[in-house]
Parts: sequence; C-alpha cells; structure tokens
Amino acid sequence: MKVHSRRTLPWMFLLFLVDPGSFQDLVSEGFIGQSVLLPCTSSRSSAVDVFWRDKDDKVLLDIKNDKPDLSFQDPKFKGRVSSFPEEYQKGNFSIIMGKLELRDNGTYECTILTGTGPEKITIMLSVKERNSASCGSTRTNVLLLFVFSALSLMFYV
Ligand SMILES: *[C@@H]1O[C@H](CO)[C@@H](O)[C@H](O)[C@H]1NC(C)=O
Ligand SMILES: *[C@@H]1O[C@H](CO)[C@@H](O)[C@H](O)[C@H]1NC(C)=O
Repeated sequence: MKVHSRRTLPWMFLLFLVDPGSFQDLVSEGFIGQSVLLPCTSSRSSAVDVFWRDKDDKVLLDIKNDKPDLSFQDPKFKGRVSSFPEEYQKGNFSIIMGKLELRDNGTYECTILTGTGPEKITIMLSVKERNSASCGSTRTNVLLLFVFSALSLMFYV
C-alpha cells in the first residue's frame, strides 16, 4: 500500500499541471445523416454565458444564465442542435448536432465567459460518408470485373 501511494504522488502533480480550464483542441467524428457530440466542459460552472459558433461565426447555440437561448441561432442549425441543461451545473456545455451534412465539416468554437475572462474550446468536426469501407469493396469489384474481362478476352482472341 505504502509503495503504491509513493508512486502515485508524481502523477498527482501532473494532474495539477494539466489545467482543465485552459485552451483545448478537440476532435469529433460524425457520419452524414447521423448526430455527433461536440464536447465543451469547464471547471467553472456557476453563472456563465456560453457561445457556440461555427467557423463563419454563425450561431449554433447561446447559453445565458443557465438557459439555452435560440433567438440568434442561424437557420442552418435550426432543429439540429441540442444541449444538456441538467449538465450545465457540472460545467458540461456540450452539444449534440444532428442530421450531419458534409458541409458541417470544419471547426467549431465554444466560448465560456466567466468572471475571470473567456475560455475558448475549439472542436474540429470531421464529417464522413457512412460507408467508406463499401467504397473500397466497390473498387475491388470493379477491379475483379476488369480482370475477368481481360481473362475472357485472352481466351476468346
Ligand atoms: C456531458 O453530457 C453529455 C450528455 O449527458 C455526456 O454525453 C458527456 O459525456 C458529458 N461530458 C462530460 C465531460 O461529462
Ligand atoms: C474536414 O475537417 C477536418 C477537421 O477540421 C479537416 O482537417 C479536413 O480538411 C476537412 N475536410 C474537408 C473536406 O473540408
């Protein structure tokens, strides 16, 4: 037991060095037509305003005084963005974006305004076609077809 606690001590220091409130770059991956979680969490949770924006500064969602505010939401995101109000108190301001399209691919920003200044979290969303694997097998099929055609030509000529 004692050996263990001595070994974990340096790790405790590392945990303190990694400030969860500092700038973060996160990556999310989603598929066309499906939904994806864009994470945004803060160590500060009380009485904050949160602003979700896309790369063109279009509004996905505002959170003001612990309430989601859709009044400035861009039509592009209408009915596709939801958050978790029951999680706000824990500093979890993540959102779910639904009905993904290829053009949703790109960078999103979650800015948390606190009394001590803004925290900005950047999320890179990569939207992919649902079946990139079947694309590969289609290519294999085309290749097989080509080989068969070549073979049958050899036999008939
Ligand atoms: C935030 O809340 C969502 C929905 O409950 C959950 O999926 C996600 O894991 C939470 N994030 C953190 C860091 O707790
Ligand atoms: C999709 O987004 C990712 C991450 O932001 C980026 O690296 C990639 O180049 C983008 N792809 C397209 C086709 O825009």
